[in-house]
Amino acid sequence: MAPSASTNKRFLLAARPEGRAVVESDFKLDVAPVSAPGADQILLRTLFLSLDPYMRGRMSAARSYAAPVELGAVMTGEVVGEIVESRAPGFAAGDIVLAHSGWQEYAAQPAKYVERVDRSQLGDLPLSYLLGVLGMPGATAYFALDTIGRPRSGETVLISAAAGAVGQVAGQIAKLKGCRVIATAGAADKLAYVTQELGFDAGIDYKGKDAEALAAAIAAHAPAGLDVFFDNVGGVTHDAAMMNLALHARIIICGVISAYDRVGQPDIGTRWNRQLLVKRALMQGFLVSDHRARWPEFRMQMAAWLRQGRIRYREDIVDGIEAAPRAFMGLLAGANRGKMLVRVAA
Ligand SMILES: NC(=O)c1ccc[n+]([C@@H]2O[C@H](COP(=O)([O-])OP(=O)(O)OC[C@H]3O[C@@H](n4cnc5c(N)ncnc54)[C@H](OP(=O)(O)O)[C@@H]3O)[C@@H](O)[C@H]2O)c1
Repeated sequence: MAPSASTNKRFLLAARPEGRAVVESDFKLDVAPVSAPGADQILLRTLFLSLDPYMRGRMSAARSYAAPVELGAVMTGEVVGEIVESRAPGFAAGDIVLAHSGWQEYAAQPAKYVERVDRSQLGDLPLSYLLGVLGMPGATAYFALDTIGRPRSGETVLISAAAGAVGQVAGQIAKLKGCRVIATAGAADKLAYVTQELGFDAGIDYKGKDAEALAAAIAAHAPAGLDVFFDNVGGVTHDAAMMNLALHARIIICGVISAYDRVGQPDIGTRWNRQLLVKRALMQGFLVSDHRARWPEFRMQMAAWLRQGRIRYREDIVDGIEAAPRAFMGLLAGANRGKMLVRVAA
């Protein structure tokens, strides 16, 4: 199969948003010729591009667990793509692959860095799920609960950013384990979605509340305290949850999205050492890439839950690579309704 176009639209990082929100001019739309694949490479056409909060960190030069995107380089991102040309043994035109080829319509990639998708294993589940519930965000929910949260039947679990790509899965897994699940999110319709459609037990809108008001709202729904806190956001929500810990609580530090625009600067707030001590609580940072070895187990379990209707998943899909910057800015501001994706090609 030949490429259907000779030009490749792509977004380059044009400026680093340091100490401020991302703006559209931080990205530059560039039109380049489609690259020919070299030896042991494949040329892919992007079908879906995943937009994820971690990309905000890669736009910054601050030290992190991964190298920043260089100025002038293609914005990083995971995609589901279709091979249009292969010069790599074992890969053929028409194969579907997962690759970290970024915000662009076409990419020549070394075959050793792409993963071929076995479509028969996916069955009738959508390909886009490989970037969401069956991919990195789903794995985050699954492994963070399995290795740190360890929710047991009858326990109370608080999930922040509960309607998002990670949060909606984390809450449903906790429900499957027999827990009472409380959600925080920043919009009434998001809370209606997780309580009415996904079966979470209670929802709290964090917007406009200081830590004390939010702590009181959590306490009203969790009078015996929180056994597990799955924190995707940090900041005020984190403080409010820390005021509500049950004995031997487990706190998953999964994300700190409230502080991503201040990356590299200290996140100043209350010290919770005493609360951790008194409650003999465990607080641990989580990184999904530490769990690659158990990925097949996760995919099999999650696909089974999806087919059984025990896990449901909402996606927020925009069309065309040109839509990526605005959709990404919307994701950071809470405009997304579920897992944020760009459908780059049909
Ligand atoms: N550690 C890991 O391995 C790992 C892996 C994947 C994701 N993560 C982290 O998990 C978190 C969720 O990621 P996701 O992909 O599932 O994104 P998401 O929840 O689908 O989207 C991000 C959400 O964050 C919320 N948000 C934005 N600014 C906020 C603020 N100042 N305070 C509170 N909430 C805010 C918004 O929802 P509201 O309407 O509720 O404000 C927004 O919709 C992120 O922090 C991400 O970095 C970590």
